[in-house]
Amino acid sequence: MALGEGSLLAATAPAPKEWTPFQNSCDLCAPSFSVPSWRFLGRGGSGVVYAATCEGGDQPFVVKISSAQSWRQVALEFDVIQRLSSAKVPNIETPIRLLDASPSGSKVVAAVYYPEANGNLTGSLFDTMDPSIKARAAKAIGETVGAMLCEGIVCVDLQFLLDTDSGRLLVIDLTESLVLSHQPTAIDLSFVQSFLLESRSLIPDSLFPAAQQAAQMEFSRRFPKASRNYLESPEMSDVLLSSEWEFETR
Ligand SMILES: Nc1ncnc2c1ncn2[C@@H]1O[C@H](COP(=O)(O)OP(=O)(O)O)[C@@H](O)[C@H]1O
Ligand SMILES: [Mg+2]
Repeated sequence: MALGEGSLLAATAPAPKEWTPFQNSCDLCAPSFSVPSWRFLGRGGSGVVYAATCEGGDQPFVVKISSAQSWRQVALEFDVIQRLSSAKVPNIETPIRLLDASPSGSKVVAAVYYPEANGNLTGSLFDTMDPSIKARAAKAIGETVGAMLCEGIVCVDLQFLLDTDSGRLLVIDLTESLVLSHQPTAIDLSFVQSFLLESRSLIPDSLFPAAQQAAQMEFSRRFPKASRNYLESPEMSDVLLSSEWEFETR
């Protein structure tokens, strides 16, 4: 599925069959419970993503419907987005509702968010594009990395959609996230290491110093207020400092 392919499809499509278990219990869109307008946006490892609009509603929202095997990942993602959103971490989606159903013994979860990323979308800063948009996007990634780390949440497969016209960046797909424990385990340490390495690899070398500065600023602004236990053990400090991001906690 190519990024942005959804916008090339017809403006509306019938409700996906996976929506059936939710439609009678969904009160997302008063006064009507129906969601008559659907657009397919993409399919990933854990679900299918649509833009949907309610009858009488103006702003489309985004619905990720899990496959029966992956409902845990989508429920985890929703929880993570709620935590990040209440900590005001920049460039992430806004959670609206987690809907939950077990049709005929199998479980399906639909997570609903704002906003739909639209425009001329790319998922990579390495594509050719306006240098100033590229620089802003690199800083935005840095900010989000610094803020997420400080809030004790890391993701080993950080993905984003960038609107190459407006420069707006939206982090999507936090299904591979981990909420760190106060006393870091070996798994925590390896997730943090992967998060730092993989997020670094999203950014071209020439833009990394600016991204790093943005990350450091966000990190040091939040660190005094955050629950610092996540990050203060000597093992964690070594991981943070030895990565190219060089986060200092002592
Ligand atoms: N907020 C959004 N706006 C526009 N497109 C989106 C949005 N979220 C997801 N998509 C599209 O749906 C695809 C699958 O979403 P993703 O979150 O990666 O699902 P999965 O967890 O199943 O991998 C993405 O690659 C992207 O094309
Ligand atoms: Mg995905």
